[in-house]
Amino acid sequence: MRLAILGCGTVGSEVIRLLHEQSADLAARIGAPLEIAGIAVRRLGRDRGDLPVAPELFTTDAVGLVKSEDVDVVVEVVGGIEPARGWLVDALRAGKSVVTANKALLAEDGAALHDAAADGGADLYYEAAVAGAIPLLRPLRESLHGDRINRVTGIVNGTTNFILSAMDATGAGFAEALEEATELGYAEADPTADVEGFDAAAKAAILASLAFHTRVGAADVHREGITEVTAADVASAKAMGCTIKLLCIAARGTDASGRESVSVRVHPAMIPLGHPLASVGDAYNAVFVEAEAAGPLMFYGRGAGGAATASAVLGDVVAVCRNRLAGVRAPSESAYADLAVRPMGEALTRYHVSLDVADKPGVLAAVAGVFARHDVSIATVRQAPAGTEPAGRGADAVLVIVTHTAPDAALAATVEELRGLDAVRSIASVLRVEGGE
Ligand code: NDP
Ligand code: HSE
Repeated sequence: MRLAILGCGTVGSEVIRLLHEQSADLAARIGAPLEIAGIAVRRLGRDRGDLPVAPELFTTDAVGLVKSEDVDVVVEVVGGIEPARGWLVDALRAGKSVVTANKALLAEDGAALHDAAADGGADLYYEAAVAGAIPLLRPLRESLHGDRINRVTGIVNGTTNFILSAMDATGAGFAEALEEATELGYAEADPTADVEGFDAAAKAAILASLAFHTRVGAADVHREGITEVTAADVASAKAMGCTIKLLCIAARGTDASGRESVSVRVHPAMIPLGHPLASVGDAYNAVFVEAEAAGPLMFYGRGAGGAATASAVLGDVVAVCRNRLAGVRAPSESAYADLAVRPMGEALTRYHVSLDVADKPGVLAAVAGVFARHDVSIATVRQAPAGTEPAGRGADAVLVIVTHTAPDAALAATVEELRGLDAVRSIASVLRVEGGE
């Protein structure tokens, strides 16, 4: 089996190292030896350390390598939309199997890849694209195909989980925690894709597509990052027996007209400390799947890093090589359900709202009236004297309100009206709450 490897960075170099170290075992598992036909990179002169590979295998001609007659499998670990999309579409149409870790491309234009795979009768595998080393996509696309998945809730970005865990552990603000993440090599020089939630949103789109047999793209995902999460929010969460996580949530439900649909979102949320995802710390990932017959399932492990991600890439390489030798291909994309994606306003969420208020008669009634006008039911309300709550600077008292589940649009409109209410001096913290209801 001849492999074209596109990319030799954090992930690609580990793929090459593992191919070398485990060559005998991989050959035995596949039933044929694996050979590297070529490695496409951007800079031929880059120092690649002691990578166990002949220097003449490196090329900057990715197009030529992909088109080469003697390539069976293309492994893409470059990233980005173009030129990766062109390479992979060409490879698949030519009947070559593709293994990719490129979540951005799959979420942006997975349809182009799946269509090309169907045209060429080729395999398209991408286990490494979501949650790195964790075997997650194969269970969704194979093991759970006899079941019906209702909800997927996950921590799928290691960088932001590290930052939020650090804020929770030390009381640090976002900027300080980001600095630590950068120093330790978790956050990239430009951390935008991680901290603004783009990376998690791409993964959410891929998970939702597999879980609900529906094409969901990055543009369908409601996305909020963690840059607005403050030390006061973290302290408020702690006071409630909760912690804050950047969650990806894909859920089945019904739209306004009662038709089955899905909602897919990424945003920070408070979760109770007893929630299965609350103890996922550091840069780890975890995904909680709720299926009708199987019940709750939890997947946990390293979501990033060269070796961890290479493990998932090589698992896919073994699978596609076995398929080629057996003359079969994996089942095509399953998008038959074709469910509509609900707008965020229709997603059912709960809010935790901390208000700085004057401590005088009628304030609580005025605040409660706003919730009632928007048909939002209050689950708990707690008044604390100013200074006893992290959020209560400059107020007579702090009102901490947690709602029952309501459409997100109604909750957002409630908060908007509270901002203009005389009795409310300021809104100290607004966070969604997940779990526990
Ligand atoms: P890196 O930036 O470390 O490596 C990218 C590689 O692609 C480099 O070898 C680079 O060449 C090469 N490259 C870039 N542009 C071109 C081009 N135009 N033609 C040929 N080669 C090119 O990325 P990572 O290894 O971190 O990520 C690779 C993929 O894996 C991405 O899709 C990423 O999202 C995904 N992924 C990464 C994870 C991680 O932990 N890093 C985890 C899960 C998925 P050169 O070496 O010459 O610069
Ligand atoms: N930047 C990503 C993360 C890498 O922090 O999780 C893995 O996809």
